[in-house]
Amino acid sequence: MSDPWENLAAHYGTIKERRILSLFDDAARFTRFSAHAGDLLLDFSKTNLDETGLGLLLDLARTRGVETRRDAMFRGEKINTSEDRAVLHTALRAGEDAAVSLDGQDVMPDIRATRARMAAFAQGVRSGAIETAVGGRFSDVVNIGIGGSDLGPSMTTLALAPYHDGPRTHFVSNVDPADISGVLAGLDPAETLVIIASKTFTTIETMSNAATALAWLHKGLGDKAPRHLAAVSSAGDKTTELGIDPARVFGFGDWVGGRYSVWGPVGLPLMLAIGPARFDTFLAGARAMDRHFCDTELAENLPVLLGLTGIWHRNICGYDSRAVLPYDQNLRRLPAYLQQLDMESNGKRVGLDGAPLTRASGPIIWGEPGTNGQHAFYQMLHQGTTIVPCEFLIAAAGHHPDLAHQHDLLKANCLAQSVALMRGRMGQGDSYRDFPGNRPSITLAYPKLTPFTLGQIIALYEHRVFVEGAIWGLNSFDQWGVELGKELAQTLLPMVKGADPKGKDSSTRGLLKALNPDR
Ligand code: F6P
Repeated sequence: MSDPWENLAAHYGTIKERRILSLFDDAARFTRFSAHAGDLLLDFSKTNLDETGLGLLLDLARTRGVETRRDAMFRGEKINTSEDRAVLHTALRAGEDAAVSLDGQDVMPDIRATRARMAAFAQGVRSGAIETAVGGRFSDVVNIGIGGSDLGPSMTTLALAPYHDGPRTHFVSNVDPADISGVLAGLDPAETLVIIASKTFTTIETMSNAATALAWLHKGLGDKAPRHLAAVSSAGDKTTELGIDPARVFGFGDWVGGRYSVWGPVGLPLMLAIGPARFDTFLAGARAMDRHFCDTELAENLPVLLGLTGIWHRNICGYDSRAVLPYDQNLRRLPAYLQQLDMESNGKRVGLDGAPLTRASGPIIWGEPGTNGQHAFYQMLHQGTTIVPCEFLIAAAGHHPDLAHQHDLLKANCLAQSVALMRGRMGQGDSYRDFPGNRPSITLAYPKLTPFTLGQIIALYEHRVFVEGAIWGLNSFDQWGVELGKELAQTLLPMVKGADPKGKDSSTRGLLKALNPDR
């Protein structure tokens, strides 16, 4: 047989009943089914993959053109075909002497210039050289954005909390007034810088929150309110309309998707929190992963191997979700971040040619940090009827040497879970005490969650999404699936305010009535 999909299915048929644990009769199992990139270690030995399966998956990656498509992305080809755009978020983290050509033009001079302006601005705010409207220092920064304009900066800023030495940072994303009210309630407009982050500057949630924040600033500062504003956007005309000084507007090209944008101006809150030098180190980590992805043999390539375990579990074993379980409290927003990165990228039902896909594509991504999840949903992971491949993340060391004994407990718990999932425990007398085991997991281990390591980890996941999307033959860089809800919200708004809900189904009419009892 020459179709790699068929070969994989046939192979799976022969090993389906095998216990993962039995694979460890091979003393070299861990060495063979783990790989390194920089300071990351990916262990995928606690899965049911064997040499034959892995070989077939590598064949699949080759046949589906993963390498060709990867090279096309880095070359600036317009691989986002439905929007006719290049995909060059990697240029945002390219080194000082790199040249990246798009339509015959090097995009790097602009990227470097914006990076330098961001750094000067961040440094000015951090040092106090850029003063508040009343001549003081900015103590707080509020980032207003949603989706990629929120999840990247908020997740990374939280992840690197031990490195914060700048102003306090806060994030507002939800249009629910509870979000902005809660954040602004504790702040003083005279000491707060507001960043409005929206690539398009049209996103309704962000524009509503921005108007509320501007009114709040006006109340405190009068006409000087715009001096407390900065914007991250590609829509310079719209930021000017809002009175934002163009010197405080940081833009990027349409070849950077929102969920891939943390490496550039969208990362401004992180840069303000940890400083430009550490932000550079964060970029350097991602750059190291880019080099690894481009230069390493597929069989040793971390994003490729991570992507292939995803394909194995999704398409060959038929598991429809995967749990992301960081045993790292500072990565507690990673599952939410990966939900956008992965599900907005690969949650697609048609291929690049517009025809329906004939195989399952992106799985459901979910998760919570360990050990908290252990006391919530791990019951289902161990004894439920649905098998969920688990992806653990764990650092060798935390940021609190004085509490190393607690970090040891964290590590022991993480390891215990992957062992328990694999081994199980039967014969306890009562069936409800039995653990069937044979449940797959992978573990990503790193020395410590530093800016460099975080850059590597995020770029690893970006490229994993890329590998899986390339194998499924879909466009990982558009997001048409978010449009319908946005449009309908606009048509429903007048009805929420009391207009006749004519043409709506009885459920929607009934709900409108319940939500508007006085109308
Ligand atoms: O609605 C989805 C989306 O377009 C995301 O892809 C994006 O990250 C988010 O909205 C925010 O968009 P913007 O930065 O233009 O406000």
